[in-house]
Amino acid sequence: MANVLMINASDRHEHGVSVKMYNQFVQSYKETHKQDTVEEVNLFEANLPYYGEKAIVALTKKAQQVDMTVEEEELVNTISYYRDQFSRADKLMIAFPLWNFTVPAPLITYLSYLAQAGFTFQYTENGPIGLAGDKEVVLLSARGGIYSEGTPMESAEMAMKLVRQTISLWGIVNPEEIVIEGHNAAPDQKERILEEGLTSVATAAGRF
Ligand SMILES: Cc1cc2nc3c(=O)[nH]c(=O)nc-3n(C[C@H](O)[C@H](O)[C@H](O)COP(=O)(O)O)c2cc1C
Repeated sequence: MANVLMINASDRHEHGVSVKMYNQFVQSYKETHKQDTVEEVNLFEANLPYYGEKAIVALTKKAQQVDMTVEEEELVNTISYYRDQFSRADKLMIAFPLWNFTVPAPLITYLSYLAQAGFTFQYTENGPIGLAGDKEVVLLSARGGIYSEGTPMESAEMAMKLVRQTISLWGIVNPEEIVIEGHNAAPDQKERILEEGLTSVATAAGRF
């Protein structure tokens, strides 16, 4: 029995292609892994406070066992909730759209909560090492244009790159990546692109 954490980084309901990917993955996974525990998070609904000065100060106070304000305690509890949930997960799925060349803002906030020295990575004399490398991860992303390797827009893609680079610091290398792309650039092909992509998602969920 595995604990699986599924993160949806879009609030576009059924309209969003990345939401379709997320829903397909959840459905296929549950059908094929009936014994597993699945925790789902919608990052927009979670309404996460930005990660900035308040959070950094609060977490520093917590680490130094210094008294916190009520607001700081609430912030630390929120961040700890997501860290504990991440720690429990044997497997992680994140689904996200490419918006303005990168990921929606709540996903940056979520990754910032987890990106903590001593939690997901550790500095050593030989550079940082990851502390979460035992997790299996699948990344699902949808993008309206074409950004695949070798295409003119490849370098402008900063959604998959951002997530891949962030989790690699945590020791999670070579996650499975499934991308649906080009459906806005070629609307006449949209149906076929989505069908093929969602079939790949279902297959990946079955073997995850
Ligand atoms: C706010 C917003 C920004 C977007 N920015 C881009 C972009 O920079 N490049 C692109 O190819 N498509 C862009 N798109 C189109 C999405 O990549 C496309 O709709 C894809 O299916 C992923 O988003 P979705 O899950 O909301 O459908 C954008 C869409 C939205 C709603």
